[in-house]
Amino acid sequence: MKVSKGGTKMRNKQRKSSVLNFVWGLVGFALIVWLFFTSRINSSHQPSAKELEKVEEEEFRLPPPHKVNPRAVKRRGSHKYSKVIDEYLDASSALHDSFFPSETSAINPQKGGNDSMSFYPGRVWLDTSGNAIQAYGGGILYDHKTSKYYWYGENRDGPTYQVHPEGARRVDIIGVSCYSSEDLWSWTNEGIVLPGERTDITHDLHESKVLERPKVIYNDGTGQYVMWMHIDDANYTRASVGVAVSDSPTGPFSYLYSFRPHGFDSRDMTIFKDDDGTAYLFYASRVNTELHVSPLTNDYLNITSAMRRILIRRFREAPAVFKAKGTYYMITSRCSGWAPNPALAHAAHSVMGPWETLGNPCVGGNEFLRMTTFLSQSTFVLPLPGLPGTFIFMADRWNPADLRDSRYVWLPLTIGGLADEAQDYSFGFPSWSRVSIYWHRKWRLPEGWSRRYT
Ligand code: DGJ
Repeated sequence: MKVSKGGTKMRNKQRKSSVLNFVWGLVGFALIVWLFFTSRINSSHQPSAKELEKVEEEEFRLPPPHKVNPRAVKRRGSHKYSKVIDEYLDASSALHDSFFPSETSAINPQKGGNDSMSFYPGRVWLDTSGNAIQAYGGGILYDHKTSKYYWYGENRDGPTYQVHPEGARRVDIIGVSCYSSEDLWSWTNEGIVLPGERTDITHDLHESKVLERPKVIYNDGTGQYVMWMHIDDANYTRASVGVAVSDSPTGPFSYLYSFRPHGFDSRDMTIFKDDDGTAYLFYASRVNTELHVSPLTNDYLNITSAMRRILIRRFREAPAVFKAKGTYYMITSRCSGWAPNPALAHAAHSVMGPWETLGNPCVGGNEFLRMTTFLSQSTFVLPLPGLPGTFIFMADRWNPADLRDSRYVWLPLTIGGLADEAQDYSFGFPSWSRVSIYWHRKWRLPEGWSRRYT
């Protein structure tokens, strides 16, 4: 049979391309197997952190259906659990009581005993003087000079009220509280390190205004402790960031100024200090439709001109940023006032983005708890020294009926395993590790925890 030269060439070409396809298939398969095993190895090579990953389920009975408050639905959007959340927020309901247990079950460092070092998310948490800790929307700084942790947050120990019926529930500015601890469980009140202003109504910190989500970082160059916070008016239209400084972690902090970063509105925010000393401001902007990230100046007192828009049209707030093995992670919430909603985890190779969304990090409890971030909203993620890849997820369980009686939800957060809900386009390969926040009614820090950063 006569075979034309063209035909042979064509067949050779086809053979070559099927060999190539086979090789690429093999490479793809090997990559999946490698990703699968490395992610398993990453999550399993820290045996002491394993106990934090116990999956605890909760029996939870949904209350019988009742009339939905149309104003509440408008505020939060419709949601499978809207009715239950309504009921949970109603201070006269039994459901509310079960998630805001009375002070008789408080975490009390004065008592210690068997419960010493046990974290109970949602219980009243007393300081070493026996008073309920007031540090909402807060964050923690580890200070190498004093080898202590400092927890800064909103002091909301005043009456909750509304300026007008449609307005957000609020407490007048009292100031930023600071608590110190060596073990992260027993906290000593260091007082109000940045007080609200009583008389000068034009002052940013006048009690009639809003001061939220204060975070403090230490500047190794200037030796100053720098605080950034959300500054607003009662209607949340001022939408600015404020800056304060101190020479000591326990203050007093001197308030410097507020401004709109890059001219944009800025509401929920956080700051993040990277290993190389560069610090960044993250802020919810363009009416909470997106987040912006910007490096701070070397003295941490201002922002640089660089800025990236991230998570555009995602409507995320309450950012809490952290880093593990060179990858940046962030937990955020949806925007629903004081009502809880599902958290999302995000990851990036560069702090300036692009940021990809991984999915809901909540594990255990039950679906209702996972869809409400265990009835809380993110505020900070603290790395645990001695346990790489293990963190404490810090969140607020807001009680809009009486904000001073909001609670803290601290839970273990680990990185490892495959991200199960790659939400952004990722070429079919789940390229990130999973971020998991594990529900525990009661938990302790594991043995491997070293207390101090070296
Ligand atoms: C949600 C924010 O995350 C909180 O810090 C606070 O601003 C409330 N909204 C007010 O409704």
